Amino acid sequence: MRITMIGTGYVGLVSGACFSEFGAEVICVDVDSAKIDRLNRGEIPIFETGLDNLVTRNHKEGRLLFQTDTAAAVGSSDVVFIAVGTPERRGDGAADLQYVFQAARDVARGIKKFTVVVTKSTVPVGTGQEVARIIRTENPDADFEMASNPEFLREGAAIEDFMQPDRVVIGVESERAKQVLRNLYQPLYRIETPILFTNIATAELTKYAANAFLATKITFINQIANLCEAVGADVHHVAKGMGLDRRIGSPFLQPGPGYGGSCFPKDTQALAKTARNHGQPVGIVEQVIEANQQQKTRMVGKISAALAGQVAGKRLAILGLTFKPNTDDLRDAPALTILPALLQQGAIIRAYDPEGMREAAKLLPGVELVAEPYEACKHADAVIILTEWNQFRNLQLDRLKELMTPQADGRFCFCDLRNIYEPALMKEQGFNYICVGR
Ligand code: UGA
Repeated sequence: MRITMIGTGYVGLVSGACFSEFGAEVICVDVDSAKIDRLNRGEIPIFETGLDNLVTRNHKEGRLLFQTDTAAAVGSSDVVFIAVGTPERRGDGAADLQYVFQAARDVARGIKKFTVVVTKSTVPVGTGQEVARIIRTENPDADFEMASNPEFLREGAAIEDFMQPDRVVIGVESERAKQVLRNLYQPLYRIETPILFTNIATAELTKYAANAFLATKITFINQIANLCEAVGADVHHVAKGMGLDRRIGSPFLQPGPGYGGSCFPKDTQALAKTARNHGQPVGIVEQVIEANQQQKTRMVGKISAALAGQVAGKRLAILGLTFKPNTDDLRDAPALTILPALLQQGAIIRAYDPEGMREAAKLLPGVELVAEPYEACKHADAVIILTEWNQFRNLQLDRLKELMTPQADGRFCFCDLRNIYEPALMKEQGFNYICVGR
């Protein structure tokens, strides 16, 4: 089977590489010729565990090609995936579909034989229909069927999520398209992955509903964490007590500084917008969006309170900048709200992140980026963990105390916004230990 994958961003590159690993011949196309050149030289533009090996091997073996000519690639393909970006449109929170529609026009020019055209980007309900309309208008003779196959992979675990997914959702409206996609996902049938066939609108909405639900789950536990602080409860025990109920489940009940990333913030906004447009507002999601923003801001107050309300002139060591570990992605990371607010209050910030430094240099002016964590902690009035990278889980506490400046009460200020340390142990070690909901 031959596949064209349009867009070599996160979803496109990972999916393209994984389909080639399944044995399909995949052509990844992108309008960014510099990116295609880099990929052809074996350079991987994103940090994702295991991706470089997968790309290099399949590229070498001729199953994974990179080029800029979409129409040529489409002409020789059985399935075309549209996996371009759908950023948040400025102002109204809707998904910006200009790249999807441009891809649809390119596909229309290229179709030469029966082709299944699949949206893989996260697109609002109705987009599949619109893409089909564009293709039909641009090329009335095109022999194609539309489908929707949203992607549920997580950054940092993308390959595993693709190869061993909890489920695959496929929206189709013809038996022909269903057969082609069933064949494509044959390798997953063998490991008994549930494959859900539905109509296109349902597949499109399922993706938004899943992300919005996960964002709600996180926000729920964040609000419970805030309440725990007020009543002297421990949110980890609350989360455990809730999560052991199989109807609730324990994943995504980890409190923190608020969710970020390229998906939850954008997708919750887009779902809220779609729902309002259809006169069926999803108030709960609107509240989640608002509460998540407040959670980020709340962290600024927490840090300030830990420093007796005096942030101006204080030296802060920030460990972790990316929106979560094992990625170099800073999109909508809590760091982008928290650090500028602290700078605004006069803090002097040194920061370290294992993979996010290149992005941070662009996005966080005024923050001094240093080469390793202990460098950031030199003379620091407070150490603040913003992302739970493994290497921050076992910091040498004695070394930290030698490097840091003690506060007026003789203690060392340590704000662990990902709750990776034990409060009792940190207290015993002489830290004023601040965390979330414990
Ligand atoms: C998310 C979904 O988990 C994927 O299923 C989906 O495919 C993807 O969006 C997408 O739509 O493309 P991702 O954004 O990579 O994946 O990251 P997550 O692991 O879901 O984390 C998102 C944010 O939530 C992070 O900032 C993380 O720190 C935060 N989070 C997550 C918590 O604060 N608590 C938790 O318990 C879990």
